[in-house]
Amino acid sequence: MDFLETVKQRRSVRRYTSQVPDETLVNTILECARLAPSAVNLQPCHYHVGRSEDMRRKVQQSYDREWFATAPLYIVVCADTSVAWTRREDGRSHAAVDAAIAAEHICLAATALGLGTCWVCNFKPAVLSDALHLPPHVEPIAIIPVGYADADATRPQQRKPIGEMVTVW
Ligand SMILES: Cc1cc2nc3c(=O)[nH]c(=O)nc-3n(C[C@H](O)[C@H](O)[C@H](O)COP(=O)(O)O)c2cc1C
Repeated sequence: MDFLETVKQRRSVRRYTSQVPDETLVNTILECARLAPSAVNLQPCHYHVGRSEDMRRKVQQSYDREWFATAPLYIVVCADTSVAWTRREDGRSHAAVDAAIAAEHICLAATALGLGTCWVCNFKPAVLSDALHLPPHVEPIAIIPVGYADADATRPQQRKPIGEMVTVW
């Protein structure tokens, strides 16, 4: 799909069919995550793919929503805060920034492949970290459910007008 068309077509999908995406599609999505840029190219991200019944259930326990449970698989984007770049000037870690870029690569790649996704950050971090056996320095940043949309995903994107978002000096 043309890149601009992909950006326009991406929507948060909050209901999925039971069809499990082919492994080759998932691998293509993960490759797009791997190619995401990161500060100082430190590559602090790790991707946990939850596709077994057991892991799906555990991920669902961290975000208990009916629609979320319909997803056939989840990609949990994690960032190693001991690896990520920290700006010396103010001590700001860029772990979440790197993870956010990778997560959006995942969402856009999935859209281009005809799959739906949704960013999920409102999960219980302790429950998710426990399920994935994450050490304290590795943070789960986003869960991306991936699957085929089970509803009309063509609703308009509600966004502020460009003039409210851009200042040209
Ligand atoms: C950082 C971030 C966190 C989000 N967390 C959630 C979430 O926990 N649950 C949810 O249903 N949607 C979540 N969303 C999806 C937003 O609600 C959605 O992107 C926004 O309403 C715009 O709709 P669209 O994605 O269809 O264009 C999140 C999006 C972002 C970027």
